[in-house]
Amino acid sequence: MNNTNYLRTVLVSIIALLFLIGLTAAAFGHGGMKHKSSSKETTKPHHKPKPKKEKKLLYRGCPSCHIKTNGDDYTLWGDVKRVFRNHRVSAPSGKPLNENTQVETCLECHAAKSNGKGIGAERSLRDIVHPAHLFSKDFQELNGTCFSCHNVEWDGRLVLLSRKIATNSKGIPKKIPIPGALRIRTYGYVSMNVFIGVVSALGLLNLLTLGLAYRRKNKS
Ligand code: HEC
Ligand code: HEC
Ligand code: HEC
Repeated sequence: MNNTNYLRTVLVSIIALLFLIGLTAAAFGHGGMKHKSSSKETTKPHHKPKPKKEKKLLYRGCPSCHIKTNGDDYTLWGDVKRVFRNHRVSAPSGKPLNENTQVETCLECHAAKSNGKGIGAERSLRDIVHPAHLFSKDFQELNGTCFSCHNVEWDGRLVLLSRKIATNSKGIPKKIPIPGALRIRTYGYVSMNVFIGVVSALGLLNLLTLGLAYRRKNKS
């Protein structure tokens, strides 16, 4: 009786001792490791530390890049003259094309038709500017991306940034809705085959109804 009591006490003491050793080891070990690591590794922020006041190249909207600087004409019209000789010099609305021309005027001819062409030119502006910018080294050096010319609207569609957009240092627009954000349209186009098809079908229908009316008249 006494013996078993004694044994039990010893067993409980040993277990308690082991538990205590474990506990202190865990506390010291962990604490110690933590201390070690925080003294050795400097905590790395997710973002790189900013170099002081380096101005980021951030341009949104055609006229933020397409401007006339001292001597160089980088306006839309200036670039057109550089890449295409004998380009038309006025828009269908009668507006002359010059260094003040904005993209809306270009779209009078270069908006897209659903047959893939421009509404008043062979090529749509999207077919011209997408490759001309996205494969351009100069555009890359200006940090150009889709968001240089576009914004995603509430309905998930892209709009065209026709004006220079005021943004914060991350490119987020200051004014909402963005001034000069144009909805992008594709104009309907009825091909000649569809047109002829519809007219012939209507003609046939006409003949049919006429024929039926004639038969009815003859019967009565
Ligand atoms: C981030 C600056 C930037 C923005 C914004 C920008 N462009 Fe440009 N654009 C350029 C550069 C740079 C070139 C010259 C590309 C080259 O030749 O390497 C260029 C060239 C062009 C050209 C000549 C294309 C050709 O055939 O060579 C047209 C047209 C043009 N841009 C229209 C536009 C229109 C329209 C917008 C707005 C919807 C626009 N750009 C916005 C930088 C920009
Ligand atoms: C009166 C209609 C009209 C207007 C307005 C117009 N264009 Fe054009 N543009 C044409 C036609 C036509 C061509 C030659 C056929 C083609 O390539 O689409 C052309 C060709 C071009 C080309 C050469 C494409 C190539 O093959 O390399 C560029 C670039 C261009 N236009 C940009 C512009 C820009 C930018 C504006 C506004 C400043 C503008 N256009 C306004 C009718 C127009
Ligand atoms: C230089 C300016 C410029 C850049 C950069 C640019 N786009 Fe565009 N984008 C345009 C123009 C101009 C149109 C045609 C606008 C119109 O016809 O009204 C257009 C039209 C589009 C359309 C058709 C949208 C619609 O509702 O029909 C899509 C999609 C598009 N762009 C995607 C992109 C993507 C993706 C990128 C980047 C990889 C990009 N764009 C970069 C100028 C640009």
